[in-house]
Amino acid sequence: MIKRTLHVNGVPRTVIAEADQSLANVLREQLGLTGTKIGCGQAQCGCCNVILDDKLVRSCVTRMSKVADGATVITVEGIGNRDNLHPIQLSWIVHGGAQCGFCTPGFIVSVKALLDQNPNPTREDVREWFQTHRNACRCTGYKQLVDAVMDAAKVMRGEMKAEELLFRVPADGHIWGTNYPRPSAVAKVTGTLDYGADLGLKMPADTLYLALVQAKVSHANIKGIDTSEAEKMPGVFKVVTAKDVTGKNRITGLITFPTNKGDGWDRPILCDQKVFQYGDAIAIVCADNEYQARRAAEKVRVDLEELPAYMSAPAAMSEDAMEIHPGTPNVYFELPVVKGGETVPLMQSAAYTVEGDYYLQRQPHLTMETDVGCAYFDDEERLTIHSKSIAIHLHSAMIAAGVGISPNKLRLVQNPAGGTFGYKFSPTMEALLGVACMATGRPVFLRYDYQQHITYTGKRSPFWMKVKYGADEAGKIVAMESDWSVDHGPYSEFGDLLTLRGAQFIGAGYGIPNIRGMGRTVCTNHAWGSAFRAYGSPQSFLASESLIDELAEKMGIDPLELRARNVYRPGDTTPTGQEPEVFCFQEMIEKLRPLYNSALEKARQSSTADVKRGVGISLGIYGCGLDGADSSEIRVELNPDNTITVYSSWEDHGQGADMGVLGTAHKAFEPMGLKPEQIRLVMNDTAITPNSGPAGGSRSQVVTGNAIKNGCEMLMAAMRKPDGSYRTYAEMEAENLPVSYSGKWIASMCTDCDLKTSQGKPFSVYMYGMFMAEVAVETATGKTTVEGFTAIADVGSINNKLVVDGQMYGGIAQGIGLALSEDFEDLSKHNSLRACGLPYAKMIPDKMDLHYIESPRENGPFGAAGVGELPLTSSHVAVINAIHNACGVRIRQLPALPEKVLAALKK
Ligand code: FES
Ligand code: FES
Repeated sequence: MIKRTLHVNGVPRTVIAEADQSLANVLREQLGLTGTKIGCGQAQCGCCNVILDDKLVRSCVTRMSKVADGATVITVEGIGNRDNLHPIQLSWIVHGGAQCGFCTPGFIVSVKALLDQNPNPTREDVREWFQTHRNACRCTGYKQLVDAVMDAAKVMRGEMKAEELLFRVPADGHIWGTNYPRPSAVAKVTGTLDYGADLGLKMPADTLYLALVQAKVSHANIKGIDTSEAEKMPGVFKVVTAKDVTGKNRITGLITFPTNKGDGWDRPILCDQKVFQYGDAIAIVCADNEYQARRAAEKVRVDLEELPAYMSAPAAMSEDAMEIHPGTPNVYFELPVVKGGETVPLMQSAAYTVEGDYYLQRQPHLTMETDVGCAYFDDEERLTIHSKSIAIHLHSAMIAAGVGISPNKLRLVQNPAGGTFGYKFSPTMEALLGVACMATGRPVFLRYDYQQHITYTGKRSPFWMKVKYGADEAGKIVAMESDWSVDHGPYSEFGDLLTLRGAQFIGAGYGIPNIRGMGRTVCTNHAWGSAFRAYGSPQSFLASESLIDELAEKMGIDPLELRARNVYRPGDTTPTGQEPEVFCFQEMIEKLRPLYNSALEKARQSSTADVKRGVGISLGIYGCGLDGADSSEIRVELNPDNTITVYSSWEDHGQGADMGVLGTAHKAFEPMGLKPEQIRLVMNDTAITPNSGPAGGSRSQVVTGNAIKNGCEMLMAAMRKPDGSYRTYAEMEAENLPVSYSGKWIASMCTDCDLKTSQGKPFSVYMYGMFMAEVAVETATGKTTVEGFTAIADVGSINNKLVVDGQMYGGIAQGIGLALSEDFEDLSKHNSLRACGLPYAKMIPDKMDLHYIESPRENGPFGAAGVGELPLTSSHVAVINAIHNACGVRIRQLPALPEKVLAALKK
């Protein structure tokens, strides 16, 4: 043990700690300064930044033995607070710098250190600073962060007043379409928002801390589990195995389609007979603290009979592959696309045909916050599980029977989440927390470290695709043939739905009248497939948006011109035969054309023998909703103080659910002239908030937004007096009028896609975009740098500009990562943020230009569509097409790592 007196945020604090304890843990656990976050724990993200003796350090790897007695420490709490925001914090708020907010304290501390030593940095200085200090953000795309630093620096230099930065509600009182900051922003920039790990430090004294015993192989039979040694380890209360689970010990994937050959009960909570993938949980050690639990977990002996591991769809589809789930074929779902006439004769008579094979990799989500949660029995004896779930009601249905509890005794709560990007559409640790809490009768807490977070949460499923176009003399695509195999890992949840996305989005954007295709879902032993932003469309568009460039090349015409000839026009239908609800592509192309021409010219002029520059484009589309008659419910209530509360389960990945609810409700209450602060939000607790459905598929703004509009309108109708004014709460009570209303909406205009043809009207509203990447390829190394990116988006009428911009920038950054660096393939290598190819600041261009066309959507609340998925539909393909434009290299298997580009250049 060592004793240190530290001057923390100006206050002397004495701590006694283990010499090898990290400063981050001491600040958080002993001094209660939970504004300092721990993300990677490996010096790769900067979430834990503090200023130690005037130097910026990553406190997760700063051992107490290296901290001098008398050292000064500045954490985010010492920079500013709610009543006295520092200009950096204020600027972060107004520029939308805090999305999920998990990286925010680390950035704010980092910027404080930067501006202390360089009060007048250039944008490039700021980017360089973030890069060298490994400050990572997965949500924003960095541009807004640099904007925020530049304005904060101006205020600090006295060139701008802080008041000039502040957002002001316009005189008409409307906030729809403005940059009104999200309600959670102040807590995020001051480090006062409690994420799951922060809550874990505030649990009752009898809480047990959990550690998992996990498989280190990808496929095996379990012969035995010996917990005896672990049970004798210090602090251990119990080691929970499958034998302790009172329910079915399976998470159900809620099979979407009846033609699925599995039964959906394929994912064990704790493995009992088999291990299906690396990282599968076999036992849970419950101990007095995490250190004891992890040490004891190493003592659990698991006797395994290793089996052949099928680590890709082709491997699992091979003739001699064994069934991974005995009794269910590895190819457990097949889906044809049949639109229009037969394609074979059309291909034979087509003036042009092009064909290509493509592979989109297993993209990791790389959130800054790892998976985390806790569970306890509440005062109504409900098993209450807090997690990062973005589907609290759905997850309740998926885990209740497996855990062994009746659904009305199960309560799920979403903690503020430090990013999910979709991985939390799948339950992760909820059932593990549930069974541990039930088996011990004590509150429990579990946090994955970063290696566990990467290896034992779902990933974007790779697609193996072959696509062929047939076009007439003018380049109009008359026929498409497609074939795609989805490597969905060992667990089937939503795998059939994902396969349908191939049918919906391969070739989307073009009114191709005749399509024949076949998709299939394949069970493998690699990471299970979970949702990831734009679910299924980045795979689809890699094929169809690369291939249209290949067609343009074959025809000798410009790729933008070829797209212009083919994009949806009235009379065209989507690959599923649905008429688009708006036709905006022509307008987008007209808007893009001059930008594209000048980018091409610039690339031509600046290319050298060593650095080839090029421009690539792509189009992207995504539906807003779950397929078919998606629905949502919320509740809205008039309070005694005449404020309004909106109760909803619009879960927040960090995308801005709070702002989505507030903006929509405020717009709905426009006739009453409410101020934003008169609307309160209660969110994401199955015991309190109605089933608004999951926050996935960019559905929330449309489906839940419509439910909010409906509920608000009902309440307003009840409050409206004959003279047009509105009753107060007291007047409602006096007249015995209800003050609480359930708002509902159902996408009744939609139909499911037919399972023999994939034809149907799955979505009420779509989002549309055009993307343009400007790249430089170094011919000596094959390294690609994206130097500029432009997006033209039609996401309907915009609720909140700051949120929508944030979604666009962040999604584009993830598209660039998908194109160039991100992967989760090699289990021995891809187990940290850096190794998985996380884009840091300098990989994302500072030149990112967003343009909007706001075609109002008839089925969107106040004309709004969603936005979150759109920027990752095909932004990566713009980069891939730009590489080809720059140097003639066509990358068909992502990511386009330098060595891959270099090898192709050499050929
Ligand atoms: S750098 Fe410390 S938590 Fe990532
Ligand atoms: S806001 Fe930066 S990681 Fe979410």
